[in-house]
Amino acid sequence: MLKLCINIDHIATVREARKTIEPDPIIGAKLAIEGGANGITVHLREDRRHINDRDVLLISQHISTLPHILFTLEMAATDEMLSIASKVKPGLVTLVPEKRQELTTEGGLNINAQKQHLAKYLENLHKHSLTVSIFINADKEQIKTAKDIGADFIEVHTGPYAENPNESELNKVKEAIEYAQSIGLKTNAGHGLNYENIKAIAKLNIEQLHIGHSVISRAVMIGIKEAVTEMKKLTDFNFK
Ligand code: PXP
Repeated sequence: MLKLCINIDHIATVREARKTIEPDPIIGAKLAIEGGANGITVHLREDRRHINDRDVLLISQHISTLPHILFTLEMAATDEMLSIASKVKPGLVTLVPEKRQELTTEGGLNINAQKQHLAKYLENLHKHSLTVSIFINADKEQIKTAKDIGADFIEVHTGPYAENPNESELNKVKEAIEYAQSIGLKTNAGHGLNYENIKAIAKLNIEQLHIGHSVISRAVMIGIKEAVTEMKKLTDFNFK
């Protein structure tokens, strides 16, 4: 069955806009699971701009009580993240490229450019019994290298398809997935997927989808009426 993993980073983005305690991504994770999410995904960035160490710890503790829910930790291949992942033990580690200036992950990890470092890094993650995915462009050469260095999964970057949801971009994702599977890799997909472009991707033979921004955006829109109604009741109270 295709697993829908919800990336809740942007609940933390709203919290960090005020450096306060709400909205709490832990509560968001619980509600996402109630809504049918098969997994919760977070990206712990070096600059902690949204998700922080406390969030990772509490979400992983909660999910460890729910064996059917997958906890995915997206992270850069750094020593600090290796140390955190080895303690937290997420169900899946997804290695992503990270630049401080970017608004979101801008492209797949260029594995060929740092093959030796990543091979060693994966070896270390595997020593801690972690399952590892690499976020990667729909590029056969990169996929082959992911296999060579021991990745368990790849996550195909669907950003280019999301920007141009046409047959040609869809085929690139499809061919990447088919090629990865033919050489023994498990396959996920994510980035930029939304309520309009998801159908064609959901039909592909993928294990997990990782979707964040569009779901959190939609949550704000479908929740605002109820939130205002609640506040309105409280503000009208004094006049009754
Ligand atoms: N997959 C990876 C590897 C990502 O880095 C992100 C963004 O954090 C996502 C999926 C989710 O992308 P979006 O927020 O555009 O749905």
